[in-house]
Amino acid sequence: MTNPTQLTARRSPALKGVVRAPGDKSMSHRSMILGAMATGVTEVEGLLEGDDVLATARAVEAFGATVERLGEGHWRVTGQGGFRQPADVIDCGNAGTGVRLLMGAAAGYPITVTFDGDGSLRKRPMKRVTGPLEQMGARFGWQAAEDRLPVELSGGSLTSIDYVQTVASAQVKSAILLAGLNADGVTTVEEPEKSRDHTERMLRAFGAEVDVTPGGEGWVVSLQGGQPLTGTAVSVPGDPSSAAFPLAAGLVVPGSEVTVEGVMLNPLRTGLFDTWLEMGADLTISNRRMAGGEEVGDITARHSTLKGVVVPEDRAASMIDEYPILAATAAFAEGQTVMRGVGEMRVKESDRIALMVAGLRACGVEVEEEPEGFIVTGGVVRGGATVQTAHDHRIAMSHLVLGLAAAEPISVDEPGMIATSFPGFVELMNGLGADIAAGQ
Ligand code: S3P
Repeated sequence: MTNPTQLTARRSPALKGVVRAPGDKSMSHRSMILGAMATGVTEVEGLLEGDDVLATARAVEAFGATVERLGEGHWRVTGQGGFRQPADVIDCGNAGTGVRLLMGAAAGYPITVTFDGDGSLRKRPMKRVTGPLEQMGARFGWQAAEDRLPVELSGGSLTSIDYVQTVASAQVKSAILLAGLNADGVTTVEEPEKSRDHTERMLRAFGAEVDVTPGGEGWVVSLQGGQPLTGTAVSVPGDPSSAAFPLAAGLVVPGSEVTVEGVMLNPLRTGLFDTWLEMGADLTISNRRMAGGEEVGDITARHSTLKGVVVPEDRAASMIDEYPILAATAAFAEGQTVMRGVGEMRVKESDRIALMVAGLRACGVEVEEEPEGFIVTGGVVRGGATVQTAHDHRIAMSHLVLGLAAAEPISVDEPGMIATSFPGFVELMNGLGADIAAGQ
């Protein structure tokens, strides 16, 4: 019987075409939040209009900014130079980045606000952000369970801290820096490995001074409190984490040649492409240029004979969201692909190690699970399964790509979540020649 709430991917003929990835999710969240903290007008081009970012847009509106949609991906945020007391609970939906960065920003203002999210976000740890913000002087009251949303935040009168991160997390770093903007003194965050630096880059575009220097065990980012932000123009390039899906399909479906234009090539985001190249992928980057303060390029993936590799553990921060789709492509590679040092995957929108292991096994792929990683042994992918996604967009898209080259169809249970990061995914993939359809 067909189940209309599911999506099914079937073995597809060669995929061909040129597409554009949706706007980068990390930069889109930041453009809304910094736009609201700033004084004046911020015009954003290429904004990702996915559910996560729309939740952040509603949140900054509730904090007093004026948010207008001028056209597709073209938004205007008029900031009041700070956050005002909101009338209601701030519901961040499924967005971990949204809630963590908003908490950091809100902590700097004398307001009391409750943050909440959907069932998946309510399961994710929040102390990694509230801990350092508490050290700065913000107060938190857990409404249901410690370390979990909903939580009430009372902000204002912050003091700077020197914070040493044990895990490289851009969300934690960004929350501290945004709070530090309204703290007394110089706030520093030391990271063991550099995590994505969109907050640092965008803060500079809004007129703030941010220093990055080698120090401690890695990198130290610092900023002086009390710096005002001024609205600016932000151009959001294509999201490498979303481009990964059509490119992966190009690599695994025989005869394919898929180009994704305008993909952000920030080196702190491109670990997946480096790994694919090491696996023998026919991946070429052309037309490298600067756009919106980031390097972008057009990436072409052609069907490739892949071989398994050991992914260096220090690459994890630059591809943490890409392990699910890497695992899907590794299922078609010769030999083992070893992914270790990725325990953080377990606290994303779902436990992504557990779900990839379960999903790949259901499709006949040999996978070994470890506490902090997993190993995929490639070969023939049988398919013929319905995979549980636990409301996780990247788990859904990874298995749909797997289904395009598996022997039997692969279905995913809850495709609606794909819209959190990649609205129009099915249409884009089918436009390339993929066979993805509602039902089972
Ligand atoms: C993000 C940082 C990463 C990533 C998330 C987006 C960001 O999370 O997984 O999808 O925009 O700062 P962590 O900072 O928790 O690693």
